[in-house]
Amino acid sequence: MIYDHILQLSGNTPLILLHSKDIEHIDLYAKLEFYNPTGSVKDRAASYIISKVINTGEINQDTMIVESSSGNFGIALAAICKRKGLKFTCVIDPNINEINEVLIRKLGAEVVKVTEVDENGGYLLNRIKKVKELLANTPNSYWVNQYGNPYNSDAYYHLLGGEICDGLDDIDYVFLGVSSGGTISGVSRRIKEKFPHAKIIAVDIYGSVIFGGKPHKRYIPGIGSSMVPSILSEAMIDDVVIVDEESVIQACYELLDENIIFAGGSSGSVYCAVKKYFHDKKFSRRPKVVSVFADRGERYSNTIYNDCWATEFINKSHSLVN
Ligand SMILES: Cc1ncc(COP(=O)(O)O)c(C=O)c1O
Repeated sequence: MIYDHILQLSGNTPLILLHSKDIEHIDLYAKLEFYNPTGSVKDRAASYIISKVINTGEINQDTMIVESSSGNFGIALAAICKRKGLKFTCVIDPNINEINEVLIRKLGAEVVKVTEVDENGGYLLNRIKKVKELLANTPNSYWVNQYGNPYNSDAYYHLLGGEICDGLDDIDYVFLGVSSGGTISGVSRRIKEKFPHAKIIAVDIYGSVIFGGKPHKRYIPGIGSSMVPSILSEAMIDDVVIVDEESVIQACYELLDENIIFAGGSSGSVYCAVKKYFHDKKFSRRPKVVSVFADRGERYSNTIYNDCWATEFINKSHSLVN
């Protein structure tokens, strides 16, 4: 099949069976979202939201699109805005991965970098303040606001949720990493409609406050948040598994070793959570478990997949524990 444009390849990502010696009593599938054109699950939300607001007339060709993102969403939005000929300003902070910043800039976005630390010791509050300032100073502007925009959740209800439902005859569990909450809100609603008995398991990381944890510095991007996203109130969550960063790094290496999957940090978190959840559970029939792998490992080559970084990180966590 010949496609007219690469962004048309968003979606229809593969669902594959994973093999792990620790959890041979479950059928574990991974939805490989890194097959999307800009490399992550976020292509779905970016394409859906921008098409939606064009169709509803909420934006026009002269609108300045604004969003705060240091990662995959910024890249996906930059790509779709370039394709549609829209102006896009991305608010980032100094913690951004160098490759992400290069991609966002090369895709034509205006980049505004917030450099002042906020009262929580991070940058999120100041990034949001900067977004609000830009909106106030730009008469025709639209804030995508992934943490609160219902179109974000709808994108995953219609697209990813629909594909997962169509991909299997039955589903018992779905494991999803949470950051803005858009993926889990949309996917959980869709899964529960078709498979009401299926359990939705949210995966978060220590240091994130989403499920009531104490905030502290996190090093693995793409999962967790320093605020509770309002969009999460739509999610139908049965259980939460919190993982630690050291185990996530180990899980990423295991995925590579056992399944030849070079996955990003949130995929490693989800894989780690599946293993933690099922290792001591017994079933009368093999449960069918779906995990969503949101991005690939290349963007983590300076961190998770850098031997010096990973070893130093693991040694540091041990010395903190001892
Ligand atoms: C790599 C990765 N995994 C998981 C997520 C979580 O998705 P959501 O923001 O929809 O909760 C994100 C979001 O940025 C991500 O970039």
